Amino acid sequence: MKVLVTGGAGYIGAHAVLGLLSRGDEVVVFDSLALGYEKAVKRMSKKYPGKLSFLKGDLKNKEDVSRLFSEHKDIEAVIHFAAYSLVGESMKNPGKYYENNVGGSLNLFEGMVKAGVKKIVFSSTAATYGEPEVELIKEDTPTEPINPYGNSKLTVEKILEDFYKAYGLNSIRLRYFNVAGDSETGLIGEAHDPETHLIPLVLQAAAGVREKIIIFGDDYNTPDGTCIRDYIHVEDLIDAHLLALDYLEKNKTTEYINLGTQGGSSVKEIVELCKKVTGVDFKVEIGERRAGDPDRLVADSSKAKKILGWKPKRSLEDIISSAWSWHKNNPKGYST
Ligand code: UFG
Repeated sequence: MKVLVTGGAGYIGAHAVLGLLSRGDEVVVFDSLALGYEKAVKRMSKKYPGKLSFLKGDLKNKEDVSRLFSEHKDIEAVIHFAAYSLVGESMKNPGKYYENNVGGSLNLFEGMVKAGVKKIVFSSTAATYGEPEVELIKEDTPTEPINPYGNSKLTVEKILEDFYKAYGLNSIRLRYFNVAGDSETGLIGEAHDPETHLIPLVLQAAAGVREKIIIFGDDYNTPDGTCIRDYIHVEDLIDAHLLALDYLEKNKTTEYINLGTQGGSSVKEIVELCKKVTGVDFKVEIGERRAGDPDRLVADSSKAKKILGWKPKRSLEDIISSAWSWHKNNPKGYST
């Protein structure tokens, strides 16, 4: 199958590209390179010659989208990652999030309808739920985003529902919890600038690239006072995308599905496990709370199991050791 991956030069997108190539699919990567890395695409292209095409373009630009579908008339399905995803930035600059995440997605979906492409897997987020006070978040937990980032992703989910009804555009919207870890191949890995996520930041402290890690508050309503999140290995997450594509081959539908592990870890537990895995005792400080952090976000992942037959296979230790091997070998990401 030939699959278009928007944002395929970014962290999660590149892992999807690698997953598709390794199972024999052909891939078209469409990426503006605003946040993604051409080096990631080049490395994968070298490993799978003739299987990957790259088109630099911006979904905000309708001409780029028509060029994409006219140059690649045989695209059968899409996995759509291209988006901005920093909660804090979205609070300061909401227009950027609506214009890019909502406007860009709309251009893509219209392009798909015109080109007759009927299957899409959409990268959504647990931020669509906001701050639900439940032990496990189910798909029917009310969606009440508390920031423009979550609002933008939820709006795109709704557009997909409408496009299913109006044009028969089939979709699976996957709501990610905390994605971390890196490919075992060492070819690609997490490289954000600036980095804001916990696990890469802690590992940068272990690698000596960062002087210390600051824990954002230890007075939350959790057993050790630090926030609890559901960390999922990026390769498990991508396995679910591949299963979602297979599901769309056989079913005409629109669904939304959580991707998490049904288990939570606190910030302190992550820090301790990173010390154990790396064998490095780096400096840790307790700082102020970061605005907008809920106490606990853990997925009920039974729907993914039921519908897609998906179950995460990798442990938290696997997440951290795979990320450590990437960060140790690439302390400056792709510019190492
Ligand atoms: N944290 C620290 N210190 C740091 C960085 C993070 O203590 O230097 C803490 C945060 O306060 C939070 C936890 O580590 O409690 C995890 O933070 P991340 O920034 O790694 O991840 P978030 O849970 O904030 O965000 C992730 C995704 C978002 C998505 C959200 C859904 O990155 O895109 O989950 O809940 F919206």
